[in-house]
Amino acid sequence: MSDRETWTSRVGFILAAVGSAVGLGNIWSFPFQTASNGGAAFLVVYLCAVFLLGFPVMLGEFVIGRRSERNAVEAFRSLGFGEWSVVGGLAVVSSFVTLAFYSVVGGWVLSYIVGSVTGGYLGDAGAYFGAVSAGPIAVGAHAAFMALTIGIVALGVTDGIERATKLMVPAIFVLMGGLAVWVSTFEGAAAGYAYYLSPDVGVIADNIAGIVPPAVGQAFFTLSLGFGVMIAYSSYLGRDDSLPADGSAIVVVNTLVALIAGFVVFPVLFAIEGSVPDSGGAGTAFTALAGAFSQIPGGQLIGLGFFVVLLFAALSSSISLLEVPTAFVADRTGYDRTATAVGLGAFVALAGVPTALDTGILGWYNDIVFELLLPLAVLSLSLFVGWVADDQLAVELNLGSSFGSGFSTVWLWWIRIVIPVAIGGTLLLGIQSLLVKAGILAAPIVLG
Ligand code: TRP
Repeated sequence: MSDRETWTSRVGFILAAVGSAVGLGNIWSFPFQTASNGGAAFLVVYLCAVFLLGFPVMLGEFVIGRRSERNAVEAFRSLGFGEWSVVGGLAVVSSFVTLAFYSVVGGWVLSYIVGSVTGGYLGDAGAYFGAVSAGPIAVGAHAAFMALTIGIVALGVTDGIERATKLMVPAIFVLMGGLAVWVSTFEGAAAGYAYYLSPDVGVIADNIAGIVPPAVGQAFFTLSLGFGVMIAYSSYLGRDDSLPADGSAIVVVNTLVALIAGFVVFPVLFAIEGSVPDSGGAGTAFTALAGAFSQIPGGQLIGLGFFVVLLFAALSSSISLLEVPTAFVADRTGYDRTATAVGLGAFVALAGVPTALDTGILGWYNDIVFELLLPLAVLSLSLFVGWVADDQLAVELNLGSSFGSGFSTVWLWWIRIVIPVAIGGTLLLGIQSLLVKAGILAAPIVLG
């Protein structure tokens, strides 16, 4: 491991982690989950989940990574707990499944960039989505998106990932911020802000089972937790870096991007469509927004800006989804990085083809990740950090940190008790909802 690459700067690490975190989850899935789950009420639960559950778990991944200086699979063996490698294996499988459908949605984004240039979605937004979301066009666009991802990963950590995200993350901020300012001038925007920002506590109380699991799943997904990415990225960090400080920066920036996306999406929806779409299906974001863009003067240009940002965000995430398995296989076998990235990327691309042919299958991949793999991975990670490897990892958290040892003590107990209880509950609700959707369970047993 002596020739292991490291980040050329601390900012490089933070940007790469932010690049991984900021993605379709923030700009596509977050506003529409919020829209279909009660608006501001969902937002409140989501923010609590990000800061109270996501942030501590992220620190958990950081200590595993920096302590072991290994990728997610080998980290556990290197820390002396080889049997826990299965958690790393779960992380790799989750990355594969996620990338398979993530790339299909990335392909949709490519098609919407084309549509913004040609004006393809201006006439009938629903028909355009139908044409590009499933079938040969979707397969082709998915292949193109995977090719871009593979190309960047093949270039390696510092050359590819660090350089690409240094460019993309600031671009996302500038473009999204500009869009948010622009749409604030629309007549009717105020109703959008009201729906987005005034929480109705009654909505939360009435529908805990409906709001909490998606909010928690979204919180972990958006922070790229449970997939070993943060383990892999922090393994390249030095001991003088403050993990809590870096983690806070990453969580705050990631949250800001999602919040700003809401400030673009809600005013547009209310000013143009007059309300939020009530079903939050995979296509809603695309049809509702494209429909809105086609009614605004200059909408094609706004659309182009929006979808280009979405592409940057999606790419900076997809490269990190492919990086984890690539680093693992390349580290372990000694194979060439480029060949490894191409081989694994091609495999994932094939696994994604069914989801490019049928949006129902895409929904299944999505649900399996959100409701099963993700909570399972995060639960096992926190049990490992809290109960199996506790001493060395709590010590690791303090290295380079000015937060004090009181912080790491609270963190450790939080990871031991609060996180497993919260995620365990979410996991049960998630499994229940999968069984109901699959028709195996007729009706929810708990909190129906
Ligand atoms: N955080 C990404 C997003 O919001 C998606 C994601 C989830 C991810 N897990 C990941 C990206 C692991 C990279 C690695 O879009």
